[in-house]
Amino acid sequence: MNLVLFGPPGAGKGTQANNLVKEFNLFKISTGDLLRDEIKKKGPLSEKIKSLIDKGHLVSDKTINDLIEKILSNKNYSNRMIFDGYPRNLNQAKSFDILAEKYNQKINCVLSLKVDKDVIIKRILGRQICSKCGLIFNEFFNPVTKKNHNCDSKFIQKRSDDNKKTIRKRFETYFKETLPILNYYQNQNLLYEIDGMGDISIIYKEIRVIIQRLET
Ligand code: AP5
Ligand code: MG
Repeated sequence: MNLVLFGPPGAGKGTQANNLVKEFNLFKISTGDLLRDEIKKKGPLSEKIKSLIDKGHLVSDKTINDLIEKILSNKNYSNRMIFDGYPRNLNQAKSFDILAEKYNQKINCVLSLKVDKDVIIKRILGRQICSKCGLIFNEFFNPVTKKNHNCDSKFIQKRSDDNKKTIRKRFETYFKETLPILNYYQNQNLLYEIDGMGDISIIYKEIRVIIQRLET
């Protein structure tokens, strides 16, 4: 089964994906994480990618399609992918379908997290990420403690695009380019809408029920 976690910036896609990966033995494919890895590696596109991310714009479809084809062509990931924050526009959604056919894959379900903007802003401004294990925390809602995290505190970081100015632009990009693709998936009966306002564990339970139903 291949899943898509869809939602605005800070909706909780990465948080829910991290939990699903463990229970359902999936691979998290976060294009945001893949792009941040490219920046760390300081490859030929790293400066361009960083500049686009820090401005809250989308990175080019060509860059994203190349990253996704690398994943799809790896048989280890077949039918075990959870896409987090991808696809991001209609062109990417359609390109995915072409690539998926080439590698005999398909999307089984799109889980769309709905969260109010004011809640999301606080979530983003409080976000902390462990650069070693990838776990996601929050100063306000889910702080790092000795019980929920084993890595050294020096690995806890903030994202460079988690500031008020970039958040505003990320929202604009989301409403203009990303939100319209929900129709594309609704028309294929793949869309499940989830109330993303509650506690992390309550949202997780709702997602779990949907996935378990699809598995039977
Ligand atoms: P990306 O990394 O995908 O960022 P995003 O979509 O803006 O989403 P976030 O990662 O900010 O939020 P999330 O939904 O994962 O929330 P999280 O679980 O962390 O993309 C970054 C940039 O890369 C883009 O702007 C673009 O430039 C580029 N990019 C990426 N993909 C691309 C693509 N396909 N095409 C082109 N460009 C692309 O949670 C947020 C916080 O809230 C955390 O602190 C968490 O602890 C907390 N939290 C989560 N759930 C709850 C809850 N239920 N209650 C309380 N707190 C919660
Ligand atoms: Mg994320």
